Amino acid sequence: MIDNRQIAAAMRVRLDQVFGDLPTVPAFVDGIRRAPKRHFPLSRHDTELALKNALRYVPEEWHRVLAPEFLNELLTRGRIYGYRFRPTGRIRGLPIGSYQGNCLEGRAFQVMIDNNLDFEIALYPYELVTYGETGQVCQNWMQYHLIRRYLEIMTRDQTLVVASGHPLGLFASSATAPRVIITNALMVGAFDNTENWCRATALGVANYGQMTAGGWMYIGPQGIVHGTYSTVLNAGRLKLGLAREENLAGRLFISSGLGGMSGAQGKAVDIAGGVSIIAEVDLSRIQTRHDQGWVSAVVDDPHEAFAMAKACQQKRRATAIAFHGNIVDLLEYAVRHDTAIDLLSDQTSCHAAYEGGYCPQGLTFDQRTEMLRAEPLKFRQFVDRSLKRHYELVQTLVERGTYFFDYGNSFMKAVYDAGVKSICRNGKDPLDGFVFPSYVEDIMGPLLFDYGYGPFRWVCLSGKRDDLLKTDRAAMDCIDPERRFQDRDNYVWIRDADRHQLVVGTQARILYLDALGRKTVALKFNEMVRSGEIGPVMLGRDHHDTGGTDSPYRETANVKDGSNIMADMATHCFAGNAARGMSLVALHNGGGVGIGKAINGGFGLVLDGSERVDGIIRLAIPWDVMGGVARRAWARNENAIATGIHFNAGHQATDHITLPFLADDEVVAKLVEEVLDDVHS
Ligand SMILES: NC(=O)c1ccc[n+]([C@@H]2O[C@H](COP(=O)([O-])OP(=O)(O)OC[C@H]3O[C@@H](n4cnc5c(N)ncnc54)[C@H](O)[C@@H]3O)[C@@H](O)[C@H]2O)c1
Repeated sequence: MIDNRQIAAAMRVRLDQVFGDLPTVPAFVDGIRRAPKRHFPLSRHDTELALKNALRYVPEEWHRVLAPEFLNELLTRGRIYGYRFRPTGRIRGLPIGSYQGNCLEGRAFQVMIDNNLDFEIALYPYELVTYGETGQVCQNWMQYHLIRRYLEIMTRDQTLVVASGHPLGLFASSATAPRVIITNALMVGAFDNTENWCRATALGVANYGQMTAGGWMYIGPQGIVHGTYSTVLNAGRLKLGLAREENLAGRLFISSGLGGMSGAQGKAVDIAGGVSIIAEVDLSRIQTRHDQGWVSAVVDDPHEAFAMAKACQQKRRATAIAFHGNIVDLLEYAVRHDTAIDLLSDQTSCHAAYEGGYCPQGLTFDQRTEMLRAEPLKFRQFVDRSLKRHYELVQTLVERGTYFFDYGNSFMKAVYDAGVKSICRNGKDPLDGFVFPSYVEDIMGPLLFDYGYGPFRWVCLSGKRDDLLKTDRAAMDCIDPERRFQDRDNYVWIRDADRHQLVVGTQARILYLDALGRKTVALKFNEMVRSGEIGPVMLGRDHHDTGGTDSPYRETANVKDGSNIMADMATHCFAGNAARGMSLVALHNGGGVGIGKAINGGFGLVLDGSERVDGIIRLAIPWDVMGGVARRAWARNENAIATGIHFNAGHQATDHITLPFLADDEVVAKLVEEVLDDVHS
């Protein structure tokens, strides 16, 4: 029989090596947001299993102390986080030189992990949640330390494999293989549902990576500002009749959420010149955005909020107003007083509505937390009732002329789950989409993703602001603002990015670019690293992009050939990026829309100035984007076909996209009608 002494002797990477003695429990700093108690659906047998699973990470001599402690965490928080192993003090992404490592990539990923857990960035840092209510870097602090240790010892001939936060181990590979391969929450199809998911997370065998949290590529709320800016600006152009050169001056945008990503809304509308009121139930999040200067006023009376907005609209002065209260109450007021709203959205965490992501009307934020803990089933009923009312109010406002769009938080799916079948376009299920087109169907899909424009991002690993400014200027020089209106928008964005003070955490930037733009900028940055002009750079992107994500309620909502329920594209993107040598590849279930509703992936590429990395850029960056364009073209999306035709013409010696022949709609409809009539008669 194998015993723990043999096991300890067989491992060179262990927690007792990191800590020496069992550490004392660090104090919790007051004022740091804490995750609510998570649903804990475990039987006695499963409780034992969860405990044994967590104890796998620690040497036997610590079990007597830790077993009751872990059990207590499970019973009081619904998860085992291993709080005792939490680092003391604030975590933050430090300059890369502060980290130990045998290769640049190993040190670079430590910067990224710490930035994802930065107290100023992470939603619930003590529970390793970066954003989106449940999006974690990994499941617990034991995993955090082991991952850190593996990254410290890893060489360029090894790959670290991370399965749902668990570091499976370090395996021999090669310099052209990824240094880190991450998967999160991938479940076997028949079991891929919320019920099994809750059990698996409570057992400590599954991690919700959201999108960039579990791929360690989150860069604070800036990461979503550019996309939100493009969405609201183009919504104005398409639905409010703004000319290309106009902005949202004098227009009103209403939404909810000032959390991890939703916190970008006020800032984005501000940059687009408009006025916004964003409802938020949690005062601490309002405080964070206010301290950052991302909202300029805080009110708790709907009348005051709308009066303030109106005054700013009349002066055409851009302003972001935080309304401390429930979005449903804000909309009740607007409907009752027939207040004109130009653009309306929602960014509560509806992808996890029953886990606390959506605060129901009638409960304060604290009452929501308490009901979640004490009466989770009653909480569900409150959520359902509130979502139904929320939807009714949206309908009324839309009838009165407001343009509403679902901004990828699964709001419409949550309304459907609450029992409102009429929100489906076909009146019975979401297969044909919902009655309100999502922002991807109307705006982002046709105008950005189908061309390959997506949320390219980078982090200056030196931590130097000067490096960021140099990269901003270099990226701007790579864009031809006359090529397309999107390039013009992106050019203006990067030209003004520093002025908008978007950095929270590491020196990072987001910039929407297409395949050619991303490759050109990446090569330029690598050259700057080579010449010593700047320090090393981490390239990545949001998973919310052209090619990395299959998500019928979001990224692939404008894929209309029936393949929107398939996850081949995201899987190919992940595999292709690994094959071409990206430094990190990640593939997740869920993302921004919830378990079973999306497969999403991303990458990280460390620019070290080498020619090896030039080669990876030339092969991997265009693939990462064009695989998505090819799939969108095959779904007959016109702008993607046009992009594909152009790509095939320009890459005759190297690449070739299969393009669709287009059937005549009328001929097909007539034929089907005739034949079906015959069959039926
Ligand atoms: N389409 C996109 O690009 C995109 C980008 C980011 C986030 N999202 C989605 O948007 C959602 C929000 O993301 P996040 O990272 O900001 O999550 P988050 O949980 O950090 O923030 C959501 C905020 O909504 C608040 N809230 C909940 N119910 C409310 C209510 N009824 N009224 C007012 N405020 C309420 C919460 O207190 C919280 O602060 C997620 O579902 C996410 O997946 C989509």
